[in-house]
Amino acid sequence: MKNLKKQDPKVYKAIQGEIKRQQEGMELIASENYVSEAVLEALGTVFTNKYSEGYPKKRYYGGQEYTDVVEQLAIDRAKKLFGAEHINVQPLSGAPANMIAYSAVLQPGDKILGMDLSHGGHLTHGHPVTLSAKVYNFVGYKTGADGKIDYDALEKMAMAEKPKMILAGFSAYTRQLNYRKFQQIAKKVGAITMIDVAHIAGLIAGGAIPNPVPYFDIVTTTTHKTLRGPRGGMIMCKEKFAKAIDKATFPGFQGGPHMNNIAAKAVAFGEALKPSFKKYATQVIKNAKVLEKELKKYGFKLMFGGTDNHMVLVDVFGSKGVSGKEAEVALDKIGITLNKNMIPDDPRSPMDPSGVRIGVPAVTSRGMKEKEIEKIAKWINDAVENHKDEKRLKEIHKEVIALCKKFPLYKNLK
Ligand SMILES: Cc1ncc(COP(=O)(O)O)c(C=O)c1O
Repeated sequence: MKNLKKQDPKVYKAIQGEIKRQQEGMELIASENYVSEAVLEALGTVFTNKYSEGYPKKRYYGGQEYTDVVEQLAIDRAKKLFGAEHINVQPLSGAPANMIAYSAVLQPGDKILGMDLSHGGHLTHGHPVTLSAKVYNFVGYKTGADGKIDYDALEKMAMAEKPKMILAGFSAYTRQLNYRKFQQIAKKVGAITMIDVAHIAGLIAGGAIPNPVPYFDIVTTTTHKTLRGPRGGMIMCKEKFAKAIDKATFPGFQGGPHMNNIAAKAVAFGEALKPSFKKYATQVIKNAKVLEKELKKYGFKLMFGGTDNHMVLVDVFGSKGVSGKEAEVALDKIGITLNKNMIPDDPRSPMDPSGVRIGVPAVTSRGMKEKEIEKIAKWINDAVENHKDEKRLKEIHKEVIALCKKFPLYKNLK
């Protein structure tokens, strides 16, 4: 970054600070990951200069011989990863991907049956503060007493509500969904099916959990979570929705695609096609299972009874009398980054909820395995139980930094 260093020392310094923060910190935010240096290189290229409205071989501006190459590579590789009939790699991120998908197949005011947000659904699945809720009419299904989705109740709701779309997918639900059930219920009421796999796309691509693509009409995702690509979105669909999805993306919702980002998506999808990514996805699940077991051992209550994916949702307030916010602050002090999170039907407020969400995709990318996860669980318990003891927190922080140094990150970035 020699040009940046000379020209704009303030921005350069902030970037250096962020590199160090990532190198020395333990990243347990379930939606984060570390991209490869190859992905970073692709992001920082001259493709950022290019306008490419339209699609490969059907563009509005000239000079597209190389943009067409990278966009087609991204599409072809994603098709190999997910087996989708049609893929659009242009959505700028997960939230726009969802709005695009709704608008492609629904009219304003149409009803969407989605997962209740306090039970794990994402903001763009109908939270009142979002545009999605202003345009569409959302009704929410919840998890049952055992923490899992009650498919009989979902079917009854679908029969009563007659939604135009049944939406699956989540940001804070830890169990495997029964894709076939969604398909069967939607068929009974004539609804379109959509699933948002933003969180689990990498686990699907790596074959560590079942692939929903054959069961759903539309599948949206981000590319930057478990899939370990650049920040961005993507929409997969059955051929019969292909034209509608493409038109809703451009010109319906977006202008020119971000081609540097699409080049980086192509690189990340190339990485995900390698056998090493299968190993990664499998290890993510193993690590999450160890985290589940260890946290339970320390007396933490896990929502939904445990996990089948890359994260756990912990009721820290119910388990230890420490709120989600207090836990987040204490863990920040020991160099462990995660987020406070509402638990289903949380009696506390969103700004200071009962839970924390903990994910292992980033530490797994760093090479951490079962042994390290055991240490992380121990530190989490120690920090939560001693959240007011600054001296103890400082001691743990040193241990966290020492472990991070054993798993170096971005050695070549200067
Ligand atoms: C399930 C789900 N969908 C969509 C999004 C939104 O993605 P983005 O932040 O890229 O807009 C998220 C982000 O956390 C998510 O978890």
